[in-house]
Amino acid sequence: MRYVVRASFKGNLMGEKQKLSGPDLSKGVALSRLADGKMLLGQAGGEAVLLARCGEEFFAVGATCTHYSGPLSEGLLVDGTVRCPWHHACFDLRTGAPLRAPALTPVPCYEVVRQRDRVRVGKRLPEPKLPASADGAPVRIVILGAGAAGHCAAETLRREGYRGQLVLIGADSDLPVDRPNLSKDYLAGTAPEEWMPLRPREFFDENRIELVLGARAISVDTARKQVILEGGRGYGYDRLLLATGADPVRLDLPGSDLPHVHYLRSLGHSRAIIAATATARRAVVIGSSFIGLEVAASLRARKLEVHVVGPDAVPLAKVMGPELGAYIRNVHEEHGVVFHLGTRPRIIDAKSVTLDNGERVPAELVVIGVGVRPELSLAEKAGLAVDRGVLVDEYLQTSVADVFAAGDIARWPDRHSGERIRVEHWVVAQRQGQTAARNMLGRREKFDAVPFFWSAHYDVGINYVGHAGTWDRIEVEGSFDEHNAAVRFISGEKTLALATIYRDQESLQFERQLELSAT
Ligand SMILES: Cc1cc2nc3c(=O)[nH]c(=O)nc-3n(C[C@H](O)[C@H](O)[C@H](O)COP(=O)(O)OP(=O)(O)OC[C@H]3O[C@@H](n4cnc5c(N)ncnc54)[C@H](O)[C@@H]3O)c2cc1C
Ligand code: FES
Repeated sequence: MRYVVRASFKGNLMGEKQKLSGPDLSKGVALSRLADGKMLLGQAGGEAVLLARCGEEFFAVGATCTHYSGPLSEGLLVDGTVRCPWHHACFDLRTGAPLRAPALTPVPCYEVVRQRDRVRVGKRLPEPKLPASADGAPVRIVILGAGAAGHCAAETLRREGYRGQLVLIGADSDLPVDRPNLSKDYLAGTAPEEWMPLRPREFFDENRIELVLGARAISVDTARKQVILEGGRGYGYDRLLLATGADPVRLDLPGSDLPHVHYLRSLGHSRAIIAATATARRAVVIGSSFIGLEVAASLRARKLEVHVVGPDAVPLAKVMGPELGAYIRNVHEEHGVVFHLGTRPRIIDAKSVTLDNGERVPAELVVIGVGVRPELSLAEKAGLAVDRGVLVDEYLQTSVADVFAAGDIARWPDRHSGERIRVEHWVVAQRQGQTAARNMLGRREKFDAVPFFWSAHYDVGINYVGHAGTWDRIEVEGSFDEHNAAVRFISGEKTLALATIYRDQESLQFERQLELSAT
């Protein structure tokens, strides 16, 4: 059985010395050890180094992904880049640049010296200089929403050499955070709060990103090119990125406004749930989708008795299919979670939740995770084209020139599924932020990344590639129990999406296959 528990958080490896393995690449290896398209994990100067061969070219880069420390040597080489096996970040082998989120920081690059039939890794190279800002770059870019898409867009603008004014406005008072961890390690108590910000405050100062936090925009005047914040302060823009994300759907039932009833979207929300676990012994989680179940797992890690209530017969079945849904349910049950499925909550009181079927489940803490609604009000008021999301073209441009949209609010033409879709995935939001940033600089880059998300339940990690709103049939291969399985969502002859448990290569290969089949 393969029970690999991957580091689910960058902090797991923070401060720890990298474990070194493989040959000492500074002494050189025979060329014959590295076939074309292959990678070799080794070490040089006390650091883990990846030596890669693309045709007759050799590259040496840091072997550890800068996202959560994934092992790049187990990833995939594609056209002079390496993709991380864990969450599919992509690095340029020539420059080390993080080309695709979720990694934001480059990997180091090393000199490669070729001597007849051997290749040797030399000194660590300085980080390449950023490109100069292009002529005609906008004077001021304003980004509304300091979450996944907004933050990534700001970083990308600076990485692309943009030197103009850059304002990042966010309603939350906290620095942009690693949101997926709000329901995972942070909530479980295995990641301290200082690991949560995507970047420290100094990063924004050093990169001249004006960070305006705790500031909610109330309108966008696209004619005057101005954003107005609560309190009346205004920001003019030449280009605007709307990245206002989504808000949890609120349940309107008796008792849903009681103080022990929580939702989860922000760091503040996660902090409040953690504070409540100090006194609560029993929790009811309303909603059996990803966030609800991740919260359930984290509360179990804090030793609370956890009950999950959901209307569906099998949790996650609508997205993951009944087989994988049933397995995930089983995993939670093995960890002591009690499910109340096929029913809904009717009344919440200070000590319990009463269900539709009359059952009364005691709880001092209630967390509601019944989905999110994209935050479209600004776009609607501003007169942008909206249809279950802000409509954008392949360049992530909205119906109004100079206004772009990215992340949970954006509905874009996905060339892989052939549909206009809107998804709620961290990596998609970040990658859209990256593409929108380049397009705000006039690049005209199509957003064509294959949708990807991951979810973690105890030691079970699920990676999902593609998009399957509906499907004709599901094929399951391998064994869930052995943490080695793939689930294919098929329509006609086409596999629309692939969910894997610890089959990282297959997940990466499928992503590549979708990319190639869409060209
Ligand atoms: C607890 C949790 C766990 C998750 N886990 C995963 C996971 O494991 N994998 C995965 O793929 N996805 C996960 N997601 C989903 C993922 O986090 C989102 O898809 C992603 O954050 C969307 O990015 P975004 O930039 O569109 O929105 P957000 O990251 O939500 O950022 C939007 C920002 O806009 C701000 N804002 C909104 N309105 C205004 C306004 N009027 N003025 C100023 N600011 C405003 C908000 O305060 C917010 O900070 C998770 C989400 C949550 C809540
Ligand atoms: S650890 Fe590499 S992408 Fe997450």
